[in-house]
Amino acid sequence: MPILSGLDTEALRHAARRLADDGLVAFATETVYGLGARADHDAAVAGIFSLKGRPVDHPLIVHVLDAPAAAHFGQLTPLSLRLMANCWPGPVSVVVPRRAGVATAAAGGLPTVALRCPAHPVARELLRHCQAHGVHGLAAPSANRFGRTSPTQASHVRDEFGDALTVLDGGPCEAGIESAIVDATGDRPRLLRPGSWSRERLAQLLDAPLSDAGAGPASPVPKVSGSLASHYAPDAAVHLVAAEHLTQWLAQQLAAHGPSSVAVWSRERPAVQGIHWRAMPQAAEPAAQQLFAVLRDWDSCGVSIIGVEQPPRDASWEGVLDRLQRACAPRP
Ligand code: TXA
Ligand code: MG
Repeated sequence: MPILSGLDTEALRHAARRLADDGLVAFATETVYGLGARADHDAAVAGIFSLKGRPVDHPLIVHVLDAPAAAHFGQLTPLSLRLMANCWPGPVSVVVPRRAGVATAAAGGLPTVALRCPAHPVARELLRHCQAHGVHGLAAPSANRFGRTSPTQASHVRDEFGDALTVLDGGPCEAGIESAIVDATGDRPRLLRPGSWSRERLAQLLDAPLSDAGAGPASPVPKVSGSLASHYAPDAAVHLVAAEHLTQWLAQQLAAHGPSSVAVWSRERPAVQGIHWRAMPQAAEPAAQQLFAVLRDWDSCGVSIIGVEQPPRDASWEGVLDRLQRACAPRP
């Protein structure tokens, strides 16, 4: 099946029928492309784990149209309702206690479930069409093989899984990195994964600071595959390099590998001929939007070493820095 326009009514109907019948469909969201299956059928969700090659105890995010749909899957705590009222639709996933016996496979067997209400019109239209089949939520991890770079364009999904998978195209993703995941099982919000909306923005929207995953009372930190040391990795080796060391680093890499194997993503163009170079935006949001596409582009032109200028320590870069550090980490 080719890539279909996600705004075409026939394509949406076809996709919703396929999902209702326990099939898989990839679709655009404002963060990254998701690989969806109906969240209420464990057999459908099993298809995601096997296609991605993802361990079955790594829980998935369940995508819903609104808070009432979320209530099919989770027990909505006061804190989660505040998050939903202030951040939905948007790139914020909310972890709440799971309803017993519902979406067990999607939640990787955990007693909690992560719920997200996407803002992208393609994701929303798809969810609306699914509701007509009695499907209230789609489990959807990023549509890439486990541990690899997340897809931010429909063609990236096809590159990962081939033509057998239906992809609902919604153009390049606006955010470019995944949703923030906030634990709302207790009274205080904990940021389990930094995302496209910064910690400051979330704190403002909630009128409360967000603590880190490890903080807080006894509640254990659930498994988050985005928290594995190595994740979001392209084929090329990625190195974070401080701006002042970039010239020296580049000289070493060129001596070892030759110019056509080396790529650099930095604010200033290095004074070296023949290397692959892309300008890193000055602000975190456009950098996030480009990040995964830049890494993928270089993989497809055979680059083996990618140097990325260390982003500023500014808090707005937390989500981008998190992805970069994991892309750089040694592979298991
Ligand atoms: O932006 C996004 O969130 C994208 C798009 C497609 O919506 N989805 C996404 O899914 O990033 P995925 O599977 O690549 O990441 C889901 C993350 C995993 O790290 C998983 O462990 C975590 O969500 N997660 C899921 N359920 C959880 C739970 N009950 N408690 C804590 N973390 C959970
Ligand atoms: Mg992912």
